[in-house]
Amino acid sequence: MKTPTRIAVTGAAGQIGYALLFRIANGDLLGPDQPVILQLLDLPHALGAMRGIDMELQDCAFPLLQEVLVTDNPEVAFRDADIAILVGAQPRSKGMERKDLLAANAGIFAKQGRALNAVAKREVKVLVVGNPANTNALIAMHAAPDLDPSCFSAMIRLDHNRAQAMLALHLDKSVDSISQLIVWGNHSPTMYADYRFALVDGQSASFALRDERWNREVFIPTVAQRGTAIIEARGQSSAASAANAAIDHVRDWVRGSGGRWVSMALPSDGGYGIPEGIFFGVPVVCDGRQANRIRGLDINTFAREKLQAAVDELVQERDAIRHLLD
Ligand code: NAI
Repeated sequence: MKTPTRIAVTGAAGQIGYALLFRIANGDLLGPDQPVILQLLDLPHALGAMRGIDMELQDCAFPLLQEVLVTDNPEVAFRDADIAILVGAQPRSKGMERKDLLAANAGIFAKQGRALNAVAKREVKVLVVGNPANTNALIAMHAAPDLDPSCFSAMIRLDHNRAQAMLALHLDKSVDSISQLIVWGNHSPTMYADYRFALVDGQSASFALRDERWNREVFIPTVAQRGTAIIEARGQSSAASAANAAIDHVRDWVRGSGGRWVSMALPSDGGYGIPEGIFFGVPVVCDGRQANRIRGLDINTFAREKLQAAVDELVQERDAIRHLLD
């Protein structure tokens, strides 16, 4: 029997948690022969709800699920974690300004970063989903100086998957005929869905489309506004597709992306002129150990403007919580 992988999930009692945990326990994340232990964290008021989820997980009789631990203490949830998926975050309440939201989340992610630093495995893979995800990841990384920065990432995979599906639909092709798509930047409306290097059945997507108006006026804004469109239609934010994207992100990071480009928000190493440290969506290929950035892509004037808008936003977010980074 393989040693079980310890997977911590925060915000476990929330709607993404509910769509995520059963899929992890079912083997969708780590494959059909890897046992897992779920270490679930939420706030004290949600302990009852988490116990209910624990009962439901038991009732699924998942062969791979070895144990479920439920807690409101980050140091218990992250102990010896191999993987940590940080979903729980403070939502924006009525009248709350962006800087207050950043500050409230900074407190949460600084605390969780310190707990990861203290008790998680040294090679833990951390995915931040809770918004503002890129800056929350920056805070958690800074609060965990004993962990390598490469342990941390933020999620832009939902936007990547949305872009891939939209491009496939527009071209009347299957989603898996599309490769080398990128979503750059922040998980916010400044994100830049970029198919300049994408291939459709091995041929250039830009060449197949030859429609710059559709790119700029339909594709890029529709991908960026998809979250809002779902809230308007469903009355609630995307949960199943967000959970699915979290599975895709971590699965590819841990098991490899099979040579495919995927988009991950990683701490910038200065590549493409992006200021060092901020978490920025970039194209990577995962080899099963680490995420390797795709370098040397041409950044034309339009792409530079789009990247710069995301840089400006992320630098502003960083500056708003800068006092917490020292
Ligand atoms: P939700 O409100 O249904 O659940 C959030 C859960 O987090 C709640 O159970 C809450 O009690 C818990 N929580 C709050 N503070 C916590 C803390 N300090 N420690 C542990 N748990 C805590 O929200 P939902 O829909 O599950 O979304 C969660 C987050 O994911 C939100 O911030 C949302 O904006 C974000 N999101 C990010 C996406 C991305 O692509 N990066 C996509 C969709 C959602």
